[in-house]
Amino acid sequence: MRDFNEQTITDAVISQFKAEDPRLQQILTSLVKHLHDFIRDVEPTEEEWFKGIQYLTDVGHMCDENRQEFVLLSDTLGVSILVDAINHRADAGMTETTVLGPFHTPHAKPMTHGAQIASAEELAKGTPTVVRGQVTDPDGKPIAGAKVDVWQASSEGLYDVQMGHGEADLRGIFETDADGKFWFRSIKPVAYPIPFDGPVGKMLVATGRHPYRPAHIHYMISAPGYETLITHVFVSGDEYLDSDAVFAVKDSLVADFVAVEDAEAAKQFGYSAPFYEVEFNFGLKPTA
Ligand code: BEZ
Ligand code: FE
Repeated sequence: MRDFNEQTITDAVISQFKAEDPRLQQILTSLVKHLHDFIRDVEPTEEEWFKGIQYLTDVGHMCDENRQEFVLLSDTLGVSILVDAINHRADAGMTETTVLGPFHTPHAKPMTHGAQIASAEELAKGTPTVVRGQVTDPDGKPIAGAKVDVWQASSEGLYDVQMGHGEADLRGIFETDADGKFWFRSIKPVAYPIPFDGPVGKMLVATGRHPYRPAHIHYMISAPGYETLITHVFVSGDEYLDSDAVFAVKDSLVADFVAVEDAEAAKQFGYSAPFYEVEFNFGLKPTA
């Protein structure tokens, strides 16, 4: 075990792995193979290699209980959506999945149908919207009692956890009725930048990329006997649909937010015209 050269070093390292767990053995073997191939391809200078290590160190230092810069790095390099695609191959009748993102919290409150998920302050700043949905199985049969967890950013592009006031806002949990349906009131989501004041932001700037995500509402939908669906509904016409900073847009998840000018209809929801309406149906995948 000595005198390794640029070619023989890879097998030498791999031959040292004797993990009891065959999956760990497979993962580390592949990691070393690809990492060494990457180094042979790029041929970094020692300065460049140290810069890379320093970058990952900075990513780690940016992480705390409220900020996960590694997830952001995984998202912006397209790794999160690749892992998602491999693990959630959608069939007919099932809604496509997309990234979870860092802003889901366990603090959302259960709400009744028609509830307003925006605080009075956020509602006043935003564009009033009515959101409806139905949850079904792949054959279109309604799923009653499904848990629908929703969250979205404010009209200023911030999630409640980024506002620092400690209150749940623009999020809620609904249960589908006997027809698999739910509805709630909110504000129309807007495009917003992912947090770009850290190493990930530096990477975006250095590579000529913007940090924006197209406007969307997040959904996490669960029901016994079905896989939990993590997805978004995007706003059609958004300028960032084709350049999402985290590559999470799928055509099937884009919905029309329709402007309603009718003052009487608006009054029914405690709104004044115009307000927006959107409807989206979610197909869940039965567990194997
Ligand atoms: C989000 O949509 O909340 C999100 C997703 C990935 C990275 C940052 C934010
Ligand atoms: Fe989001």
